[in-house]
Amino acid sequence: MINSIKKILKKKKKDKRIKDIFKRLKRYQKMIKFVYQNKPEGTGHAIMQCEKFLKGSHFLMLLADDLIVKKNCSKEMIVLHRKTKGSVIATKKVDRKTVSRWGILGFKNKKKNSFLINEVIEKPKLSEAPSNYAIIGRYILPKKIISILKKQGRGKGGEIHITDAIKTLVNRNEKFYGNIFKGKYVDCGTLEGFINSGIKILKYK
Ligand code: G1P
Repeated sequence: MINSIKKILKKKKKDKRIKDIFKRLKRYQKMIKFVYQNKPEGTGHAIMQCEKFLKGSHFLMLLADDLIVKKNCSKEMIVLHRKTKGSVIATKKVDRKTVSRWGILGFKNKKKNSFLINEVIEKPKLSEAPSNYAIIGRYILPKKIISILKKQGRGKGGEIHITDAIKTLVNRNEKFYGNIFKGKYVDCGTLEGFINSGIKILKYK
């Protein structure tokens, strides 16, 4: 990756912004490790590939096609994790008609910006959805979720879903909190969303 960026840099010698990004990337280079999925095997499978790199009791997972801009959602989640010592999932209210596109959360003890999760269901029918609060792809998860994933079979679409492992832990009364984030969500998960996201991000810069 660094080599291809060097090529771009040569062409855009005077672009200070690109130079600054490159400097930052170089600083992080040693800290970034890659793992691979050669075919779509699900979010749970992706986490299993990372096992040897995960240190500590919890880790932060971000899905690349869920952008949240304007306010730092990960920071909000870390604050909630530190306060509650529980796991945290980013969430926002979505149009009821779209619940079957998302993981959907059931909850109790709702406060202004958070709630305690008591149900999780991946892409439910409207009639099965416990609410219209959707999982947005940012999670603070306990490392022990890996042992659940190892025993878990494949779910919808033949993939190993993190949502199914979260459901197992919620059913065991492990504390999971929904963080109703303050930032602006930019959906890149559909073709239309992907195209629009580039335009929107330019506007927010
Ligand atoms: C994934 C998750 C889903 C979540 C969604 C957010 O689904 O499995 O729970 O609501 O990301 O974008 P995917 O979009 O990969 O089908």
